[in-house]
Amino acid sequence: MSKSINFMVEPGGNMQGKIRVPGDKSISHRSIMLGSLANGITHVKGFLEAEDALATLQAFRDMGVTIKGPDNGELTIQGVGLHGLKAPEKPLYLGNSGTSMRLLSGLLAGQSFDSTLTGDESLSKRPMKRVTQPLAEMGAKIATTEQGTAPLHIKGGQSLHGIDYLMPMASAQVKSCVLLAGLYAEGETSVTEPAPTRDHTERMLTGFGYSVTREGNKVTINSGGSLDACDIDVPSDISSAAFFLVGASIAENSEVLLKHVGINPTRTGIIDILKLMGADIEISNQTTVGGEPVADIRVRSSQLKGINIPSDLVPLAIDEFPVLFVAAACAEGQTVLTDAEELRVKECDRIQVMADGLQILGIDARPTKDGMIIQGGKIGGGEVISHGDHRIAMAFAIAGLCADAPITIQDCANVNTSFPPFVQLAASLGLNIESKEVS
Ligand code: S3P
Repeated sequence: MSKSINFMVEPGGNMQGKIRVPGDKSISHRSIMLGSLANGITHVKGFLEAEDALATLQAFRDMGVTIKGPDNGELTIQGVGLHGLKAPEKPLYLGNSGTSMRLLSGLLAGQSFDSTLTGDESLSKRPMKRVTQPLAEMGAKIATTEQGTAPLHIKGGQSLHGIDYLMPMASAQVKSCVLLAGLYAEGETSVTEPAPTRDHTERMLTGFGYSVTREGNKVTINSGGSLDACDIDVPSDISSAAFFLVGASIAENSEVLLKHVGINPTRTGIIDILKLMGADIEISNQTTVGGEPVADIRVRSSQLKGINIPSDLVPLAIDEFPVLFVAAACAEGQTVLTDAEELRVKECDRIQVMADGLQILGIDARPTKDGMIIQGGKIGGGEVISHGDHRIAMAFAIAGLCADAPITIQDCANVNTSFPPFVQLAASLGLNIESKEVS
């Protein structure tokens, strides 16, 4: 019988201490992709050694790239150049990682060889038409299931041409996919986004010496260039830091210092939303590493209040809503989230699954088509299910800080996709958490 992991959280506790959370997942993926396609040797430090980023790493090894490490977050990638990848011998298995599948589909659409992309049960249910459709407009040949899901069968040897793509949803994965295909497409490729989304691909391409231009919400790339290897220092992931930003806000007598966190303005919605809720957050030591802004973030306990979350902050905090819902549950008054239907197509339906879990814990949380209405209240104990979604599991663990009885969270093994040392780091700060293998 297969084993699964449950988190057992005792109620209460404070959060105190200074930590550095693991490297940024989005930047780690991109460091492998661009490092592999560059001419020369790329050194990466701060790489996220977690299942999602390791799936990307394995995919490039399967396509003939020599990558040394990871060793303590350090990697050495021997770039093969834009046209140096080799046909993989078998389907590329990308586990739980939507970023790997969507970005790779763009990159592989322009190769001379055929490839197949597969994923786990969750990834195999996620929408891929959003990438195959613009890629088809560029001349790519990709077959999906009838539902538009993986496996993706990508036909090599197609000649792609640039498009001017008006992206219907605010998605950095779709934008990045089209831009990466644009490296191989004749002429100019542009993506116009309905709202700003994370721009790590654009920044890193620039860091590798590849020209990307932006005018308002439109990003443009031309084919015909090359990538020059460079060194990458991956900052800590603000999406992992988010659990402690909320944790130290909602727990009494808490103060946490999070070191060297990426504060790219396309990712800092969590800080803006928490500040609107009354959080005590201070940013210091701001610098730039490899084109990405980083800083230390200090957070102290505060009484949060409910707010209407401004729609323009939604794409800038898209991965942080599970834990923001917990913040809302601990806040005074009502919090309303709208314009966030994208949450329904993440690793699970994060609106439904969070509403179900919060209700089990005694919170009045009403899911809506595109968000949630949460009435702050007293969090009770109970047993909730994460549906194999890493961020749901960690969010409910943080809820324990404000709960008045133990919380058990089922199906937490996937925390390893983004934040393997979560339990250990959360416990070191003061969360009463234990991870238990169950059959
Ligand atoms: C990511 C983009 C976001 C985010 C995901 C990582 C990326 O997805 O949710 O965790 O690295 O580009 P969408 O582009 O689907 O919003």
